[in-house]
Amino acid sequence: MVLSLVLSCLAVWLTSAAVSSADPPVGWCYNLPSCNESTWPSIAGAYCNGTRQSPINIMTASVKANENLTALTFKGFNDGTALTEIQNSGRDVKVILNHEKMAVEGGALPGMYNCSQFHLHWGSGSSVPGAEHTIDGKRYAMEATNDTGKPESWKTLTSYLAEISNAGDAVALTQPISMDSLLKGVNRSRYYRYLGSLTIPNCNEAVVWTVFKDPIQVSSDLVDLFSTILYVNKSTNSPLMTNTFRSTQSINGRVVTSQVGSSKASFPSSSRATRPFLTFSFIVALLFVTFCCA
Ligand SMILES: *[C@@H]1O[C@H](CO)[C@@H](O)[C@H](O)[C@H]1NC(C)=O
Ligand SMILES: *[C@@H]1O[C@H](CO)[C@@H](O)[C@H](O)[C@H]1NC(C)=O
Ligand SMILES: *[C@@H]1O[C@H](CO)[C@@H](O)[C@H](O)[C@H]1NC(C)=O
Ligand SMILES: *[C@@H]1O[C@H](CO)[C@@H](O)[C@H](O)[C@H]1NC(C)=O
Ligand SMILES: *[C@@H]1O[C@H](CO)[C@@H](O)[C@H](O)[C@H]1NC(C)=O
Ligand SMILES: *[C@@H]1O[C@H](CO)[C@@H](O)[C@H](O)[C@H]1NC(C)=O
Ligand SMILES: *[C@@H]1O[C@H](CO)[C@@H](O)[C@H](O)[C@H]1NC(C)=O
Repeated sequence: MVLSLVLSCLAVWLTSAAVSSADPPVGWCYNLPSCNESTWPSIAGAYCNGTRQSPINIMTASVKANENLTALTFKGFNDGTALTEIQNSGRDVKVILNHEKMAVEGGALPGMYNCSQFHLHWGSGSSVPGAEHTIDGKRYAMEATNDTGKPESWKTLTSYLAEISNAGDAVALTQPISMDSLLKGVNRSRYYRYLGSLTIPNCNEAVVWTVFKDPIQVSSDLVDLFSTILYVNKSTNSPLMTNTFRSTQSINGRVVTSQVGSSKASFPSSSRATRPFLTFSFIVALLFVTFCCA
């Protein structure tokens, strides 16, 4: 099973009214016929049937070089106190960040973006990986290994999952965990860039997506925790939370760009025996100011 991590960073000039328009409407889901993604376009006030939706399949042969995609600058990613709380939303796992401590700028972004939360999405068992974006039609390969409990930062973070088993549960993160430690092994100078949307309702199309080429690597025992101990609601017969991801959407003529001369994604294939852990993709979403007035 494969995970993806979506980090949301908002433009600092955004008003609080604008931020609240990012709050998803109630009543949507991933896995019931009455509220799954086929119904999202009919949710009032949502943008889910728009023309620049996410996630997408990134075709590496069509990626265009852009000399402006320089290195991003990360502030507070080494701060062990910036991750404050972990929540079971009933649809995914959300980690709350202290937006006063964490920010991203550079990389052809129009300004500074403060990071307020990240969401984790996953599949169900090794046959249904849950990485939202795909590269050349592939979700990410899994590798057989006997390593367990690695890396340490993910062991620490996932140790809290047992405390948020039911929908609505939340618990403070008291042990230090930095974003840098969770992103170990990802070269953050290598990424794809395109314009898209939130991957949950209201699917607001105000997102600049930055998809890192390198995956994070985490041992399978830790990844498996997500689909085995989290429930979608509080009832005694609640289903486990699985397949918490949206399907890929039409590209509709959009162009994906990347650094000049940068090689393609280094997602591991089973031929690369050197990969120590199961891997999954890490994705950053940066939300534009147009959010407020669309
Ligand atoms: C969503 O529900 C519809 C019925 O409303 C069903 O046909 C479809 O297969 C479901 N899709 C997913 C991804 O579960
Ligand atoms: C999207 O859905 C809304 C509400 O159902 C509808 O009014 C609108 O025409 C749809 N837009 C497109 C491009 O299909
Ligand atoms: C890079 O930035 C410059 C200056 O803003 C702009 O003129 C140029 O079109 C940009 N290049 C690309 C490929 O977007
Ligand atoms: C954004 O982050 C920067 C750098 O950490 C910080 O100085 C600033 O106060 C933050 N702004 C907001 C609105 O949180
Ligand atoms: C994992 O351990 C088992 C039992 O010790 C061994 O047979 C297997 O080859 C190991 N697999 C890997 C990928 O190291
Ligand atoms: C990260 O990627 C950049 C661009 O490809 C490269 O110049 C740099 O050496 C890489 N850094 C590491 C630590 O591999
Ligand atoms: C819990 O979820 C299941 C399936 O998603 C649903 O049938 C049931 O009604 C829900 N129970 C409550 C109390 O929400």
